[in-house]
Amino acid sequence: MYSFKTRCRGKTIGFVPTMGCLHEGHLSLVEAAKKKADVVVVSIFVNPIQFGPSEDYKEYPRPLATDKGLLEHFDIDVLFLPEANKITPDNFSSYIEVDKLSKKMCGRARPAYFRGVTTIVAKFFNIVCPDFTFFGEKDYQQQIIIKKMVKDLGFAIKIITLPTVREFDGLAMSSRNQYLSVKEREQAIILYKALCLARQEIESGEKNDHKILLRVRSLIGSVPNIRLDYVVFADPETLDEVKTLRGKILVALAAYIGKARLIDNLIVNAK
Ligand code: PAJ
Repeated sequence: MYSFKTRCRGKTIGFVPTMGCLHEGHLSLVEAAKKKADVVVVSIFVNPIQFGPSEDYKEYPRPLATDKGLLEHFDIDVLFLPEANKITPDNFSSYIEVDKLSKKMCGRARPAYFRGVTTIVAKFFNIVCPDFTFFGEKDYQQQIIIKKMVKDLGFAIKIITLPTVREFDGLAMSSRNQYLSVKEREQAIILYKALCLARQEIESGEKNDHKILLRVRSLIGSVPNIRLDYVVFADPETLDEVKTLRGKILVALAAYIGKARLIDNLIVNAK
């Protein structure tokens, strides 16, 4: 049996893994892959092993016909649509976990999440054999964890990350924004506003992290129906929380609005 790589006869392969319900954020990755690689593979797979037992695996939107329509504009080479029972059959029992990084930030509320992501991404890397793979900074922690896995396990794959694509008012595009009611959609803007407030304070030289975090928390707290999971100032490489605001800082947050758990982040430059 020939691998996909062999069948591509020396052409470079670009791979964009997704869970579908595609929006402009995903499509920016596809566009970058088209520019960079000879052969472009996009996967749509709602990965059961990255959802916790009480999470939204069943409800996760799966508008396949619309997704196919959106991808038509890009003339991709392969749309990879594996079935869950083939990728993670009932007796599936092998996992890849990136220690430490997977326990921080989103890993606290979602303990098995990143292990599910890294396992499936590694499996897809083995199937697709990409030269380049494309991830969004929107899922900042995810791309850091994938980079670490690629480095630690010696995958010969270059990871390219692309900036977060936002709605007109700043809300980060996300498949889960579909869960928001009209009212919740309006309220969700506060997350981006809170990140901008932190950026403005940090970049204008405020050194008291507690003070900024208090302001950010109280801004988000001023909107009913939003439950903040976390907001952190962290080192953009190690994801360790920082106390001293100096150099590049990752400001990241996660919050629940109605049924949706939304995440967002900005990289800011402290003086
Ligand atoms: P999904 O949420 O579908 O995202 C697929 C890719 O699109 C990820 O790299 C994500 O960071 C990127 N993306 C999402 N919203 C974006 C935005 N607003 N701007 C730019 N890029 C954005 O992330 C996953 O799926 C899964 O965990 C996956 C990696 C496919 C493994 O199952």
